[in-house]
Amino acid sequence: MKALILAGGAGTRLRPITHTSAKQLVPVANKPILFYGVEAMVSAGITEIGVIVGDTRVEVMGALGDGSQFGAKITFIAQGQPLGLAHCVLIAADFLGDDDFVMYLGDNLLEQDLGAFVRAFETARKGAEPPTAQILLKQVPDPHRFGIAELDSSGNVIRLVEKPADPPTDLALVGVYLFDKTINEAVRAIAPSPRGELEITDAIQWLVDQGRRVRCERLTGWWIDTGKLTPLLEANRLLLEVIEPRVDGDVDEASSVDGRVVIEAGAVVRNSSLRGPLVIGRDAHIIDSFVGPFTAIGNGCQVINSEVEHSVIMERSRVIDIPRLEDSLIGKEAEVTRSQKRPRALRLMVGDHCQIDTE
Ligand code: G1P
Repeated sequence: MKALILAGGAGTRLRPITHTSAKQLVPVANKPILFYGVEAMVSAGITEIGVIVGDTRVEVMGALGDGSQFGAKITFIAQGQPLGLAHCVLIAADFLGDDDFVMYLGDNLLEQDLGAFVRAFETARKGAEPPTAQILLKQVPDPHRFGIAELDSSGNVIRLVEKPADPPTDLALVGVYLFDKTINEAVRAIAPSPRGELEITDAIQWLVDQGRRVRCERLTGWWIDTGKLTPLLEANRLLLEVIEPRVDGDVDEASSVDGRVVIEAGAVVRNSSLRGPLVIGRDAHIIDSFVGPFTAIGNGCQVINSEVEHSVIMERSRVIDIPRLEDSLIGKEAEVTRSQKRPRALRLMVGDHCQIDTE
């Protein structure tokens, strides 16, 4: 079993961050989103991993390296243009060969361990009617935003449709799929969708149309497609809720630390209140400030004389004299300051290297 992780998309819904960074490398709970996917594959026992990369390939390749940091062997496959998820399978043909594989969308985050999902497919493949694919479904309140599945009364997949205006069910396709080699035929047989992409949803529908068996499993834990600000902050919140508290940094006596808090080595906390769940990265400085629940402060950041809550602040950024910053995503090496003392809460999405003075 191999894995194919998709990390090519442009991330238009997370601009301006994605003008300079790959959306899959935006951190949640101080770890790039993509790393969770790679780790999920390795813990499911899959170490031969192909990663589809696009315009942000230099950054993604730099972050993942050869995969040895995860105990995996990573092969990068370049996609010239974002022509769809099924196009990714098409260009990965040499890497995939005739092997079964998991396809994992690099901006999806799941609570559930994927080992059981993979084993269920392997077991079913040895059975009487071996499935050729397996999909993972989750009920969602906004089915028009996803690929949607229709099942018959025995739970078999009978129809799949990509982002329907009038969804037949509320069962969304989660971005984790299992395939045997037949999918290689399917991705060559389908035509581009109205949005001009080769849809994996259409390729799976092609399998159904050919009379192939497509199994489905229901996802029990949470699942987040992190492509936009609100779900990204939600993923950050959910992951921080389960971190193991640990203080390796230097906290003075004038500071207080409550709840699930991780303070990495080299971090300095002076005269500040930290109320978890939160994480403070390596060498960050928190001075005369309040850092509230569901906040991830990246390595080398400075938060001075400010209040920050429910936000992700990427590495080496500075937040200075801000009375309240909430529900925000601040890119790398950005600076948010205030020269006039007008109190108000800020909700921001700030790109890398930006300087914002809220005067
Ligand atoms: C893609 C798939 C869709 C699936 C979703 C899961 O959508 O096309 O079927 O439900 O991922 O995240 P996209 O992210 O391309 O809008």
